[in-house]
Amino acid sequence: MSTVVDQLRAAGCVFAEAEAELLLAAAGTPAELAAMVRRRVEGRPLEQILGWAGFAGLRVAVRPGVFVPRRRTEQLVREAAALAPAAPVVVLDLCCGTGALGLALVSALPAGQRVELHAADIDPVAVDCARHNLAPAGGHVYQGDLYEPLPPGLRGRVDILLANAPYVPTGAIATLPPEARDHEHRAALDGGPDGLDVLRRVLAGAATWLRPGGHVLVETSREQAPVALDAAAGHGLRPRLVTADELDATVVIATRPGAPGEGITARPGRLPRASGPYRSDRTDQEDA
Ligand SMILES: C[S@@+](CC[C@H](N)C(=O)[O-])C[C@H]1O[C@@H](n2cnc3c(N)ncnc32)[C@H](O)[C@@H]1O
Repeated sequence: MSTVVDQLRAAGCVFAEAEAELLLAAAGTPAELAAMVRRRVEGRPLEQILGWAGFAGLRVAVRPGVFVPRRRTEQLVREAAALAPAAPVVVLDLCCGTGALGLALVSALPAGQRVELHAADIDPVAVDCARHNLAPAGGHVYQGDLYEPLPPGLRGRVDILLANAPYVPTGAIATLPPEARDHEHRAALDGGPDGLDVLRRVLAGAATWLRPGGHVLVETSREQAPVALDAAAGHGLRPRLVTADELDATVVIATRPGAPGEGITARPGRLPRASGPYRSDRTDQEDA
């Protein structure tokens, strides 16, 4: 244990003890442990070495190159859980990566609640990973550009649309930590000149897929939030902003207007507060 901790600490891992414990638990043999430590020392994200990430109290499988779900995104899921209707709920997770957001939302709903879960991503490796993660929840995962691969029958039926799309401005990619820059696919990070290219397209299409009174929730940075709020309003949605200082999270929630009195019954969020030192030493999108 102490040798592994020393190696990790020398490589700059802030939570060397916690990481060493996870690696020791995961390795089957000393040779396997040595290989895992070597990959970590070389800069690969711990989650890609372990093959899983902790997210909202769940273990989510992670494949090489696929975006590792960040703790700050748990706020988006918490807000979504509070907005989900008590009736059967239709959830769409766009830009799903591992599928962590949809999976966490389904897990936060009351046991026995009927859920129809759809997810999509442009990256085939992410789609494969999400299919694995969402199979137990009966999730349907599609590959393609945003709304393009979705079944037409989903139009106008979505209660909750989750999207943690890439939002790092192109010019800031070079400033990301190597763990992200070198080990997560560029398409998972790069949001175009101001970081909002994909997000604007998510908001532009949301009203078509949401049911009246349904909600779209997107993560942004604080600096981007005013532009994202304007974009949502410009596409006929009613936007509002939620921030959570402890997670450094910024979420835009926008609602498709519905008939008066049709609003979704709100329920307090039931998402557990997740912990895990292996995540908190990572900087990510908003730190760029
Ligand atoms: C920041 S990652 C977030 C992944 C996941 N939602 C999460 O929070 O862990 C953004 C994801 O969007 C996907 N993506 C980027 N552009 C896309 C597009 N035009 N259509 C669908 N997915 C896209 C990337 O492949 C990546 O998996």
